[in-house]
Amino acid sequence: MSGPLRVAIVGCGWVAGSQIERGFALLRDRFEVAVCCDLDMDRAQDFARRHGVPEATDSTAAILERDDIDVVSICTPPSAHCEMAIAALERGTHVICEKPLTRSLELTDLIIAAEARSDARLMPIFQYRFQHGVQKARHLIASGIAGEAFTSSIETAWRRDSDYYDVAWRGKFETELGGVLLTQAIHIHDLFLWLMGEAAEVKAFKTTRVNPIEVEDCAAACLRMADGSLATLTATLGSVRPMTRLRLCFRNLVIERECFDADAPRPGNEPWTFLARTPELQAEVDRILAEAPSGEVDFAGQFADFAEALESRRHFAVSLDDARRSLELVTALFHSSETGETVPLPIGADHPRYSGWGPRP
Ligand SMILES: NC(=O)c1ccc[n+]([C@@H]2O[C@H](COP(=O)([O-])OP(=O)(O)OC[C@H]3O[C@@H](n4cnc5c(N)ncnc54)[C@H](O)[C@@H]3O)[C@@H](O)[C@H]2O)c1
Repeated sequence: MSGPLRVAIVGCGWVAGSQIERGFALLRDRFEVAVCCDLDMDRAQDFARRHGVPEATDSTAAILERDDIDVVSICTPPSAHCEMAIAALERGTHVICEKPLTRSLELTDLIIAAEARSDARLMPIFQYRFQHGVQKARHLIASGIAGEAFTSSIETAWRRDSDYYDVAWRGKFETELGGVLLTQAIHIHDLFLWLMGEAAEVKAFKTTRVNPIEVEDCAAACLRMADGSLATLTATLGSVRPMTRLRLCFRNLVIERECFDADAPRPGNEPWTFLARTPELQAEVDRILAEAPSGEVDFAGQFADFAEALESRRHFAVSLDDARRSLELVTALFHSSETGETVPLPIGADHPRYSGWGPRP
């Protein structure tokens, strides 16, 4: 490689700071954050000072015209992702894009088409996958030792008080694109789909009960997975004690992870429990776990994969298809909740909610 990839960060808020501190700053041989951009110039300049970024601007258009930028990392509110992602791909600039990718499967497919036409590539962020606990679970399941899957229960019980919605873009369909299903549980649901594969049918309910906002802050769903196993998903932003729990029951073992309080947003981290049906199976499980790959974690893990994949021209560990699958689940959850129907997957262009799960005009 000729030198570190030169990165422009667009949107100088909370996640942009995390991307630097927990990602780019730990990989200085691979990335150099050259410029940061925010509609609010004071925010951009303050961010540049705090994170040692040499240049700040309030013009995304100017960033997209530059030839000395290899990667744009889009850290703006969700409603601004799509247009910028497509513009960067058309310009031949690689893109890292925060979750949720965009507001509909239709726009997701436009982004997929733009990437296919471009020499540049887009990697959606799902950094929760880059933790050793969930990676062990995936390694174990891929080995085949777990046997037939029976049920999975996935709980995202977090807490957001009213001050969380002081930020103007949060809590509104137009800018946040959804609530707990789009903003918080999307990570845990991605881990679940990554471990358990495709969903085949979805029945869901959602409501807003915790805060006086437009978007949902409680949801519950039942799923039939493509392999025939069943799953329940629950998500709320009203849990007095924040908690995330995943429990996956297979014929030969049960896989469990629960984490509380400040650890609630770290479900991928260790420890996970892998309990086998017999001592003999447990010995084999422990042997397979000892061989699980372990690399860099969190944003640094996902960004390292990005750089390595570009260099060796392989696929990213998190692909646009993964982002599409997460938004397909969102589409099904919203459609089922609004119609009372059980929604079969996959969802194609003929689905009434292909152009978006948000409120109809
Ligand atoms: N991966 C994660 O764990 C994680 C965590 C938090 C947020 N996020 C996602 O990151 C994104 C940003 O969230 P946040 O909490 O950092 O928001 P934030 O409000 O802290 O920051 C967003 C910034 O973007 C700026 N901005 C808005 N529109 C812009 C535009 N068109 N061009 C340039 N700048 C613009 C705003 O002025 C603001 O400074 C969202 O999509 C959110 O869902 C991801």
